[in-house]
Amino acid sequence: MGPADLVIEVRGLRKAYGPVVAVDGLDLEMTRGEVLALLGPNGAGKTTTVEILEGYRRRDSGHARVLGEDPQHAGAAWRARRGVVLQSCDDVVDLTVRECVHHFSHFYPAPAQPDEVIERVGLGAKRDARIRSLSGGQRRRLDVALGIVGQPELLFLDEPTTGFDPEARRGFWDLVRDLAGEGTSILLTTHYLEEAEALASRVAVISGGRLVDMGPPGELGGRHDRPAEVSWLGPDGWQRTSTHEPTRLVVQLQAAFGGEVPGLTVRRPSLEDIYLELIGAAGAEGGGAPAEGSPARRRTAPAGPPARARVGAAAKAPAEAPAEAPAGGEP
Ligand SMILES: Nc1ncnc2c1ncn2[C@@H]1O[C@H](COP(=O)(O)OP(=O)(O)OP(=O)(O)O)[C@@H](O)[C@H]1O
Ligand SMILES: [Mg+2]
Repeated sequence: MGPADLVIEVRGLRKAYGPVVAVDGLDLEMTRGEVLALLGPNGAGKTTTVEILEGYRRRDSGHARVLGEDPQHAGAAWRARRGVVLQSCDDVVDLTVRECVHHFSHFYPAPAQPDEVIERVGLGAKRDARIRSLSGGQRRRLDVALGIVGQPELLFLDEPTTGFDPEARRGFWDLVRDLAGEGTSILLTTHYLEEAEALASRVAVISGGRLVDMGPPGELGGRHDRPAEVSWLGPDGWQRTSTHEPTRLVVQLQAAFGGEVPGLTVRRPSLEDIYLELIGAAGAEGGGAPAEGSPARRRTAPAGPPARARVGAAAKAPAEAPAEAPAGGEP
């Protein structure tokens, strides 16, 4: 793997907000075409990291390259190559869905067809609805639409499915898989472990602003080498045992029972089991207040290359702008 294959390269990344160290020497690499999920407790530094990589926030120190450039200094052409879905957005509430997606499409040199994007995120029936009338999950779908309308090479999704109903979540997973299949590299944060398992080629667990472990979901924390837990209903009640050779045990049980083994289950540790173990071992309490409770969260909307040239943006100034605005970037 040469450097050209890396869409994200981060070494020793550090960012503090006053006394709060949000990112504390993070190392991370992401390969072109990969879907990488960032996992970690509230306050672990995921959003801060993602915002630095998006070019929205300045780092204090460390090395960062995204699509071959330093996100802090990259210009409009670079911004058009990445798409952004922020953790929380206030939308352009008086526009219709269609007007909004069309509006944002104009910021990109090679946008997708806005009406197709609206269909793709499952908002076809709401295309003429005002944004203020959308439900929480529908608004989130609109955020996703704004993130992908520019046909980005690299898509950042910060908790994209929070508030989605289960069916919408599955629909979104299909969309992410399609985008990945088309060659889009995707950096995703999520608190849904099954989402990471379903989508990610690799997951990175961060805690206290540091990388705890990284690997394919099936191998994280040596998951594939862990013993299986076999349980069954024996003559004296429920039995449970842990073994590296579950097949052999099941065959023995089958012989002992003369056929079907009552209540048989064979369970390997889930990604959630491993995640909780890693986070516990890292001694994590998250290092700070949940991001949602932080008064200084940036709550403004998306996504286009002129990152803050969005309708209504003037009403909601980003928490740390202009100090955090990319050099030479935004107004
Ligand atoms: N704009 C800000 N000003 C001050 N402190 C901040 C700001 N943004 C984040 N923090 C703090 O930095 C730390 C990391 O926050 P961050 O939002 O990056 O975490 P996160 O991993 O995204 O959490 P969550 O899972 O809750 O979204 C937290 O302690 C948070 O309170
Ligand atoms: Mg966050």
